[in-house]
Amino acid sequence: MAVDISTRDSVAVITMSRPEALNAFNVEQIQAVIDSVTQVNDRADIRSIVLTGEGERAFAAGADIKYMVDLDGAGGAEFGRLGHALTRAVAESRQPVIAAVNGFALGGGCEVAIAADIRFASPNAVFAQPEVGLGIPPGWGGTQRLPRLVGPGMAAEMILSGRRVGADEALRIGLVNAIHPLETLVEASVELAAQIAANSPRAVAAARDLMKLAFNGQTASGLATEAELFGEAFNGPDQKEGMRAFVEKRKPIFEN
Ligand code: CAA
Repeated sequence: MAVDISTRDSVAVITMSRPEALNAFNVEQIQAVIDSVTQVNDRADIRSIVLTGEGERAFAAGADIKYMVDLDGAGGAEFGRLGHALTRAVAESRQPVIAAVNGFALGGGCEVAIAADIRFASPNAVFAQPEVGLGIPPGWGGTQRLPRLVGPGMAAEMILSGRRVGADEALRIGLVNAIHPLETLVEASVELAAQIAANSPRAVAAARDLMKLAFNGQTASGLATEAELFGEAFNGPDQKEGMRAFVEKRKPIFEN
């Protein structure tokens, strides 16, 4: 199963599951996660969501590089739009979303996590935006949401270097709210989700809308431009070199 939905009273736990690729997102997986969030959004009995990844290694290892490697500009742009639909589904979910980050949250995986309202992490969580090493800029909201979450300097360090950030550092820079042992991560997330669910759903919705007004600024136009530049990267040589190098398990060589 690509996505599992379970419920604990008025909390839905959505588990993304594609273990053979560390839960990386191909087209089917993206669609399955969007469908699951939409399905839960339509349920009157659910008041908050916990989003996590199957297994002990990954929340999601990003967009599927093996799928992207041979995309042209039009294909890259279309895949970028689909990824935006995924992160938008999480960001605009009718119920608040807590991301329970249980391992790698790389590229698109990090972007899904930062689209959530709140993040809890296990000690083995690893966050990164490694896209520039693959010849593309981040394309699913990272360039817009990460600077707002961790500040422009730290976001620039992560996005321009691709450096990985472990759980302790993620806590220090405000990328996650708390660290919980892997075995109890989902339970701790459900506990917070239940606390949110016990409050007035209308007041929670209004508070979220208001926080988005304070926080989002020019996010809409920034996201649109990001989607455009992500697609354009697939017209140049670096995306092919970067992604082929990953598939061929070697280091990429980028020409000036
Ligand atoms: N796409 C496709 N397949 C992936 C993948 C991805 N993003 N991440 C992992 N996999 C696959 C691997 O290819 C491997 O498959 P095979 O066994 O068939 O070779 C399997 O998952 C297990 O991975 P590894 O053998 O590589 O496991 P590892 O423990 O040695 O390394 C890892 C784990 C560090 C996460 C490494 O897999 C990795 O670096 N993955 C790529 C991470 C990445 O760059 N993500 C960003 C993608 S670009 C993006 O997301 C763009 C955007 O803005 C939306």
